[in-house]
Amino acid sequence: MTVRLGFIGGGFIAEFHARALASVRGVEIAGLMSRTRPEALAESIRAQALGDAVIYDTVEELAANVDVPVLLNPNFARLSAMESIVRAVEAGARLEAIACEKPLARNLGEARAMMEMAERIGVQTVFLENQLHVPAIQAARGQLASVTEAMGPLGLARAAEEHAGPHNAWFWDPTQQGGGVLSDMGCHSIAVAWYLLTPQGKAVDHLQAERVTASVGLLKWGRPRWRQELRDRFGVDYEKTPAEDFATGTITFRDPESGYRSMAQFTVSWMYDKQGLRLLIDGLGPGYALEANSLRSPLEIFIGDTAAASIQDAELALEKSTASQGLLAVQPNEPDLYGYVDQFRDLVAAVRDRRPPLLDWSYGREIVRLTMASYMSAERGATVDLTDAQTRAELEAYVPLIQQGRGREVL
Ligand SMILES: NC(=O)c1ccc[n+]([C@@H]2O[C@H](COP(=O)([O-])OP(=O)(O)OC[C@H]3O[C@@H](n4cnc5c(N)ncnc54)[C@H](O)[C@@H]3O)[C@@H](O)[C@H]2O)c1
Repeated sequence: MTVRLGFIGGGFIAEFHARALASVRGVEIAGLMSRTRPEALAESIRAQALGDAVIYDTVEELAANVDVPVLLNPNFARLSAMESIVRAVEAGARLEAIACEKPLARNLGEARAMMEMAERIGVQTVFLENQLHVPAIQAARGQLASVTEAMGPLGLARAAEEHAGPHNAWFWDPTQQGGGVLSDMGCHSIAVAWYLLTPQGKAVDHLQAERVTASVGLLKWGRPRWRQELRDRFGVDYEKTPAEDFATGTITFRDPESGYRSMAQFTVSWMYDKQGLRLLIDGLGPGYALEANSLRSPLEIFIGDTAAASIQDAELALEKSTASQGLLAVQPNEPDLYGYVDQFRDLVAAVRDRRPPLLDWSYGREIVRLTMASYMSAERGATVDLTDAQTRAELEAYVPLIQQGRGREVL
């Protein structure tokens, strides 16, 4: 069977996923729907024979003509797209699954609404968190399987994701996106660190989060010169509605079977003025360790000043590249490097074999819970105890001040 995907949203990540799908069998991009008609994307998909990429005007029409709608639209537009999918299914559309990019939602209230709608139509959900599918992470787990068996699982996992800031205005508006870099990228680093700590063969949510301690800062984009740049480039005012450009924190997990405790440490920033996107992930276990750095490549390119004028597109080298000359870090296959290819292989296999994917929306909701606990900790300057029933109940209704547009009270 060929799984027919329908992309909702035709921006940056949709283009990346189209590149990834060139390396996946048994799948096609059958339909597209976006706020502005994604003609160029459709053309490029058809030119590569990746699918018919029929452009639909509504989510309902798209859902009636594909097997798996894939939510790749901005965070603030997820719920309404999901409502349209529900309407389509209630009108007779037959879906094999629904996939959603990270984050599943901006807060737990929205995550609950997403899950309730998915449950109402009884469709398998797939959560697109690529970092668990990163080949280096999967290889590390495979390579260390017998070592962790003998020595015990990792005690500490550290995950960082950093670049110089997102490419579109809505990411910078905390009321639309859900916050700053913690909402946007903290979800990745929390997820991959939790996964690395998880013993082999156990479910992705096996380890129970007990305590979360986090801090947020506005360290670059709150300064006058950079605030002005945000106003000029994106029409966003960080004097009125700032969001964090740096966040860090620790999460303590407990293994309910062994009683072992382990810690995840995450660091994310939009102020990494180095080559471009860097994922830096390491893990320490008793007697062993691992480390992955996405900026390391076997390929180095140097472009001197005299040749620099001929450079067209710095992002050819690396996502969010900040330089087009000098010694460049170049990653020739980013869709594979970041796990997008294997994420879609898993989706396709799950649909074909009628088995659950590695990650579903209930896992996505747990990541939202940990992100919300991090905001709560940073806001209150205190550790959040997730074993406390009252705190858990509070989190269900919690919307971070930064997300409410009240970042000035925090940053
Ligand atoms: N996994 C990753 O590493 C990764 C990377 C980037 C983005 N993302 C996620 O993907 C999502 C999209 O991000 P992006 O970078 O592609 O954003 P983008 O701004 O580049 O693209 C968003 C697209 O959605 C369209 N759109 C806007 N409102 C819409 C609506 N109401 N209905 C349908 N389409 C609408 C826009 O026209 C645009 O084509 C976000 O949730 C983001 O968190 C994930």
